[in-house]
Amino acid sequence: MKILGIETSCDETAAAVVEDGTKIVSNVVASQVDIHARYGGIVPEVASRQHLLTIIPIIHKALAEAKLTWQDIDGIAVTFGPGLAGSLLVGVNVAKAIAWGKNLPIIGVNHLEAHIYANWLMVRDKPTDYAAKTPVFPCLCLIVSGGHSDLILMEKQGQFKKLGRTRDDASGEALDKAARILGLGYPGGPAIEQAAKNGTPCLPLPRAWLKGSYDFSFSGLKTSLWHLVQKGGISSADAAASFQWAIVDVLVAKTVEAAKQLGVKQILLSGGVAANQVLRSHLVNCSPVPVLIPPIHLCTDNAAMVAACGYYHLQAGESSNSALDVIPSLSLG
Ligand code: KG4
Ligand code: ZN
Repeated sequence: MKILGIETSCDETAAAVVEDGTKIVSNVVASQVDIHARYGGIVPEVASRQHLLTIIPIIHKALAEAKLTWQDIDGIAVTFGPGLAGSLLVGVNVAKAIAWGKNLPIIGVNHLEAHIYANWLMVRDKPTDYAAKTPVFPCLCLIVSGGHSDLILMEKQGQFKKLGRTRDDASGEALDKAARILGLGYPGGPAIEQAAKNGTPCLPLPRAWLKGSYDFSFSGLKTSLWHLVQKGGISSADAAASFQWAIVDVLVAKTVEAAKQLGVKQILLSGGVAANQVLRSHLVNCSPVPVLIPPIHLCTDNAAMVAACGYYHLQAGESSNSALDVIPSLSLG
């Protein structure tokens, strides 16, 4: 069963074809990062206009790269939230129009749930990846992105219980703001990671442990960084390394603690911040159970994860219809 996935929740216009929920047949992502970089962050109105310009060519490219026609597609999966309202609307309306015009089933997909499914995708040129990527339940999902830092217990396919979330800034948002404070540019996560390679995590930055809760808080950390920078005399490489380490330290400690308490069988890392090498290796080193992490290009926003997630819902007999609407504040669990 081949599903066309469509993703426009933020600043990536993406389309992909995935077979049977795991095999990537094609995966096309058009990033708007260069357009937003000149403003130092995402401008929602600019993002939705850009999605409008690129979505149809990107869908055609996904079909062409898969060497498929519409007759080969069995269903459409589209992100309907969470995300920017104007951006989500572009993907959802295009998906509904195609589903109607081509008489295909359509399923609305939660972007956060889709990030988790990136863990089970098989990358075509690395078939051996697949054997290691079998879901084992219950598992613990750490979803870290520009908008979310969620710790979620996945009991089985489609069943989620939220254990913790950020109380203020998401981890990716904190990295983006720190990069701005340090003048490292946008997007901040990769810029901080790059700068940190030349520094050491030697600066005294605080951790909000929030004992007794699996919630996260990163805004105090950002304020502390700002005060340190105002005082002067620190290198931006050391500041980047210290800030990155403060975030990774808390994310990993809380995830490992939850994994032990709940006796889960696997940890799944996902979301754009999961592209961070320090986070990836520290979690693997500290975890009491096997850790699955998608390849870097499947951590950041893409439509293959949306198609994979949609496949499982369609297989379970669920589907959406022409009443499907965007939910910008949608949550998971
Ligand atoms: O999942 P994603 O692509 O979009 C959202 O759903 O938000 O995540 C984007 C976030 C941004 O905050 C970006 O700075 C962060 O992921 N990010 C990284 C890295 N690559 C992207 N953070 C740390 N290290 C990276 N290598
Ligand atoms: Zn995302």
